[in-house]
Amino acid sequence: MSAQLQPGVPAGTATVMRAMAVADLDTVLAIENQAYAFPWTRGNFTDSLAAGYRAQMLVPAASRRGDLVARPCLGYYVAMPGFEEMHLLNITVRSDHQGQGLARQMLAELASSSLDQGRNTLWLEVRPSNERAQRLYRQWGFLTVGMRRGYYPHDHGRREDAIVMRLNLPRSQEAAHGLD
Ligand SMILES: CC(C)(COP(=O)(O)OP(=O)(O)OC[C@H]1O[C@@H](n2cnc3c(N)ncnc32)[C@H](O)[C@@H]1OP(=O)(O)O)[C@@H](O)C(=O)NCCC(=O)NCCS
Repeated sequence: MSAQLQPGVPAGTATVMRAMAVADLDTVLAIENQAYAFPWTRGNFTDSLAAGYRAQMLVPAASRRGDLVARPCLGYYVAMPGFEEMHLLNITVRSDHQGQGLARQMLAELASSSLDQGRNTLWLEVRPSNERAQRLYRQWGFLTVGMRRGYYPHDHGRREDAIVMRLNLPRSQEAAHGLD
C-alpha cells in the first residue's frame, strides 16, 4: 500500500534536487496516484531505477527535518538516456504545489544535467488532452515532431494518441532559460 502525501511546504520555498531511490517509492507513488488517471506502477519506477535512468526528486532546500532524505517530495522526473539525447518519461508535481514554477525548475535541471553529459536533445510524449503540460513544454521551446497513435491507455479500454515533442538544447538555450 502507498503512503499518504507528506505535508507540503509554503509556496516559494527554495528547493533542491536529489536522486530518487527505491526507498522513496511510497512517497513518489502517493504523488503519482493523485496526479494521473493512469499512473505509473511501482514496477515502472523500480525498472527505471534498476536501468539507471535519471530519476530526480525536488525537495525543500532546507527543512526542520534537516536530513535530505526526510524532506517532503514536491515533484520528480524520470528520464531515459540515449545517444546524445534524453527522453523524459515522467514529470510530475504534487497537486497542491502545481502552478508554482516547480516543473520549470525540474526542466531546467534536466536540461543542464543533460548538456553536462553531452546530451543536447530532449524528447517527450504528452497526451493531446493534457493542455497544461503541452503549454509548459511549448513555453520551454519544445516543438511537436510527430504523433504516436494509440500510445496511452484511456477510459473504457480505449487508447489515446501521444504528441511527440523535441527540444534541441544548444548552449545558447541554457542562457535563454537562465541556466548559467
Ligand atoms: C504538468 C505539470 C508537470 C506542470 O507542473 P507545474 O509545476 O504546475 O508547472 P509550473 O508551475 O512550472 O508552470 C509552468 C507552465 O506550465 C503551465 N501551467 C502550469 N499550471 C497551469 C494551469 N493551472 N493551467 C494552465 N497552464 C498551466 C503554464 O504554461 C506555466 O507557465 P506560466 O506560469 O508562465 O503560465 C503539473 O501540472 C503536473 O504534475 N501535472 C500532472 C502530471 C502531468 O500531467 N505530467 C506531465 C505528463 S506529460
